Amino acid sequence: MTERTLVLIKPDGVARNLVGDIIGRIERKGLTLRALELKQVSDELARGHYAEHEGKPFFGSLLEFITSGPLVAAVVEGPRAIAAWRQIAGGTDPVEKAVPGTIRGDYALVTQENLVHGSDSPESAEREIALWFPELG
Ligand code: PPS
Repeated sequence: MTERTLVLIKPDGVARNLVGDIIGRIERKGLTLRALELKQVSDELARGHYAEHEGKPFFGSLLEFITSGPLVAAVVEGPRAIAAWRQIAGGTDPVEKAVPGTIRGDYALVTQENLVHGSDSPESAEREIALWFPELG
């Protein structure tokens, strides 16, 4: 079953020049890029994207981080794309959860600066794609 997911390479990934590596992993897995954009995120878009986390202790710092510099937003498509991208990315905590061989397991140390984001369900994917790429909605 073909699915779409929203992929973000967060500001730390862009600042550390890991965009090519991360996009390469997506392509080598066999997933297809349907949209790709370098973008400075507004506070409004950040709040919309992370709306479900409002009220959590890390919410303010998450907004500050995601708006701290340019990021890469992409729509990636393929069979089981949501799970496939989450497999490549590794778990949220880059040390306790992500294993070596994943993006976070290989390149990240702390939970906030964990380099990438992926939608966590088909419903989130559709919501997030409509938010970031309204022209694809
Ligand atoms: S949670 O606690 O279940 O809501 O966490 P999770 O769904 O895995 O993560 C939601 C996003 O918040 C980020 N996150 C954090 N940032 C800073 N500090 C802490 N402690 C923290 N915990 C989670 C996490 O990276 C997720 O961001 P995205 O962009 O969705 O990956």
